[in-house]
Amino acid sequence: MGSLKYIDKKGTFTLDNPDLTSYMYFPLANEAGMMSAITPDLGGDIKLDQNTFLLEPVSSENLHNNKSSRNFWVYVEGKGAWSVTGRSAMQQAQLFTDKKDDVKLTAGIMWHEIERKSDEFGLSAKITSFVPSTDDKVELTKIVITNNTEGEVEFTPTVAIPMYARSASNIRDHRHVTSLLHRTYTIKDGVVINPTLTFDERGHNLNKVYYAALAKMTGFEKMVNPESFCPVTEEFIGNGGNFENPYYVMKNMPLPYKEGEEVDGYETVAAMQFEKVTLMPKQSRTFVVALGYGESMNDINELSKKYLSVEEFDKYLEETKEFWQKKINVSYSSADKEFDNWMHWVNFQPMLRRIYGCSFLPHHDYGKGGRGWRDLWQDCLALLIMEPAKVRGMLIDNFGGVRLDGTNATIIGSKQGEFIADRNNITRVWMDHGAWPYLTTELYIEQSGDIEFLTEKNAYFKDPQVCRGEQKDLEWNDAQGNKQLTNDGEVYEGTVLEHMLMQHLTSFYDVGEHNHIRLRGADWNDGLDMADERGESVAFTALYGGNLGNMAKLIKSYADMTGNETVELAKEMLLLLNVDPTVYDSIDEKHEVLYSYCEQVKHSVSGEKVNVKCTELCTILNRMSQWIAEHIRNTEWIKSKDGYSWFNGYYDNHGNAVDGDFESGVRMMITAQVFTIMAGTATKEQIKDITAAADKYLYDEKVGGYRLNTDFKEVKTDLGRLFGFAYGHKENGAVFCHMATMYANALYQRGFAKEGYQVINTLFKHCNDYKVSGIYPGVPEYISQRGRGMYHYLTGAASWMLLTVLNEMYGVKGEIGALKFKPKLLAKQFENGEASVSCMFRGTNIHVTYKNGMCKDAGDYKVAVIYIDGQRYGETDTIAKEDVDKFGDKADIVVVLQ
Ligand code: G1P
Repeated sequence: MGSLKYIDKKGTFTLDNPDLTSYMYFPLANEAGMMSAITPDLGGDIKLDQNTFLLEPVSSENLHNNKSSRNFWVYVEGKGAWSVTGRSAMQQAQLFTDKKDDVKLTAGIMWHEIERKSDEFGLSAKITSFVPSTDDKVELTKIVITNNTEGEVEFTPTVAIPMYARSASNIRDHRHVTSLLHRTYTIKDGVVINPTLTFDERGHNLNKVYYAALAKMTGFEKMVNPESFCPVTEEFIGNGGNFENPYYVMKNMPLPYKEGEEVDGYETVAAMQFEKVTLMPKQSRTFVVALGYGESMNDINELSKKYLSVEEFDKYLEETKEFWQKKINVSYSSADKEFDNWMHWVNFQPMLRRIYGCSFLPHHDYGKGGRGWRDLWQDCLALLIMEPAKVRGMLIDNFGGVRLDGTNATIIGSKQGEFIADRNNITRVWMDHGAWPYLTTELYIEQSGDIEFLTEKNAYFKDPQVCRGEQKDLEWNDAQGNKQLTNDGEVYEGTVLEHMLMQHLTSFYDVGEHNHIRLRGADWNDGLDMADERGESVAFTALYGGNLGNMAKLIKSYADMTGNETVELAKEMLLLLNVDPTVYDSIDEKHEVLYSYCEQVKHSVSGEKVNVKCTELCTILNRMSQWIAEHIRNTEWIKSKDGYSWFNGYYDNHGNAVDGDFESGVRMMITAQVFTIMAGTATKEQIKDITAAADKYLYDEKVGGYRLNTDFKEVKTDLGRLFGFAYGHKENGAVFCHMATMYANALYQRGFAKEGYQVINTLFKHCNDYKVSGIYPGVPEYISQRGRGMYHYLTGAASWMLLTVLNEMYGVKGEIGALKFKPKLLAKQFENGEASVSCMFRGTNIHVTYKNGMCKDAGDYKVAVIYIDGQRYGETDTIAKEDVDKFGDKADIVVVLQ
């Protein structure tokens, strides 16, 4: 296995022999909807969505199994056929011998370059691939073939790319029948398929999409077209042949079709052969290949005019590199250059998740490109830091998914703010869903200072699901639409604050038999899905509790800043607010409160509003928040036989506590530790105990740090499907990067900098060590039992990592529009007493340099003085909102620590 090296400060890296690691894939995409995955031997796929795959969809196992790839052959007289991408039967057979080609990968954000050299053939090839950051749906590849021998080399070049051109569902749903829909044309520089119909879950419809594979070669004066073609797979590979041993290539015969022919109803390959090439020593010949989409033949011709030249390829490549680098507007400079470079990829990952959703990379072979509710809100966290201008409207729109019973729509449409009723009527409530919008909204207000955002309005979602998934509203029908109506049939709207209160107050009363919020369908951990009746999540009860208290603080700020003493809420909400605190202790009475409220808003709502005093509201929210904290502290603190202590996080479907001493050994889950720390439920003393217990039971350096749970050694069907997974994988005890990062975040928030650093650093060190993690730079979803990074790129962990490093480790934070510095960097993170970060803050590009001349550790230093653009600002740790308002495009800030 080669080693991975960064070659600049922008994440560009090289890697020798990437073909000796299986399951590698790399994303290439643009904002026009192109989504490619590419492997070191140019496998992978290309799609616009679930129904429009240009190359056959691949799951991780197909990466070594498939013979279909973006192949490019040269047939050298007297020597035979060499695949410049490494995909020939011969090269496969030589892989573990000393005849193996030399392969080197160089890649940066959204571009991928492979150099392959064969001594036997005396040739080398440099293959550069990217998706231009334009409005076009096209992937481009440039292949430069060089003669490394002392003599002349003559070869025949053939492009051979199998084209799939249909819906992913047709892989095992009429694969053959759908090939009969193909209308396939050879044009002067390519092969184009325009299927007549599409057969997929949407029914049988007329197809509008043109799929194309185009190629040209450099000639004496202009680019040269292919000479012959073969669009029919079975003909090209020949009887008994395959894509790694295709008949026409192996026999070095001209292909049987010319430009301007049509062959219909077959599996298609874009096989295109060029005239023979003769290369003198050191001479090269260059080819450009485009794989793309259009809505007409004309669109396809335009793609070829625009992109099939070396100059245009190079120009668009440079533009694309710049485009993405500009978008990544957060960067760090610390003593650990590797970490700074790795973070560059982490910062980029949320952009990938916006493009790909949670689908469409080889491990992510599920879903149809959409994102879930939780992901929707968490992806906004990164967006808030990197592209804040877009977020305000997005947040308001997203609140339109909340139901009046505090639950939310779970099918999210493709348009912003579009939520769809579940036609299958599957009733599933994830109990954590109500908590995330608040975290995102709080960050938005802190960063922007836009406190009035709390009073922005939107409608509520309506479908037959009512009473937190327990009942159906039989009066509702499709014709009524998916917006909540009032008794008068008007669309009912409420403020952002009202939506968030609705989510938290309903949850507060929705408790199980230990007076913690019911687990219902699951919480953050999707795998905890088998305790719908009696399950409770102490972990997320803690988070709701923390949010209630923080919401009170926000409402106070609102009142102070705007002078408004009241906020407007739905009249029905008084049922949830005006409740005697003694009820909090009584599970039955809590249920009465909840169900009488749910009954009121079951079908329609009065539409009447009441003004509630901010001070009174704060008192109620604080009371609830404190009640939750005390209840958890009093009832869930565990002491194990070994003398360790932590919080129990769950109750199973038998009503039993999940954490603690068991016959099979100690059971500990990290989630409750994370949220009791984050929400302030855990006292400082308890945090010390928790970290000791986590270090004892969950820490495993070999897999990158803190596991989700210990091995329960039981398929615990009274809690969730995750216990069916082998231990150490995914939600069953892997280091799940999202939760590990939130653990770090919580520790930093509470001032445990060394412990927080330990979480992040172990994870980073592991991921960044290619030999053990087997992934390109970035944070994957989880680390497998064998240490491999899994489900790379599309993970919510990246948003949280970005936020944790910027807001907590570097401590650059918004405080209702003011800019606060609360660094928690350790002494060893400073280079010559300095560490710096560049990021956006309220429209200004800020560069912050911390000066720690005495080289003190986090906790030992405080902010002494701030300078802005060389001018002394003052002895404070915060730049006031009105002074931030005076920033121009850029601000250079020096923060002296003492
Ligand atoms: C995934 C899901 C996320 C869920 C988590 C744990 O995490 O996207 O919603 O909470 O699994 O089950 P991710 O892929 O974002 O790391």
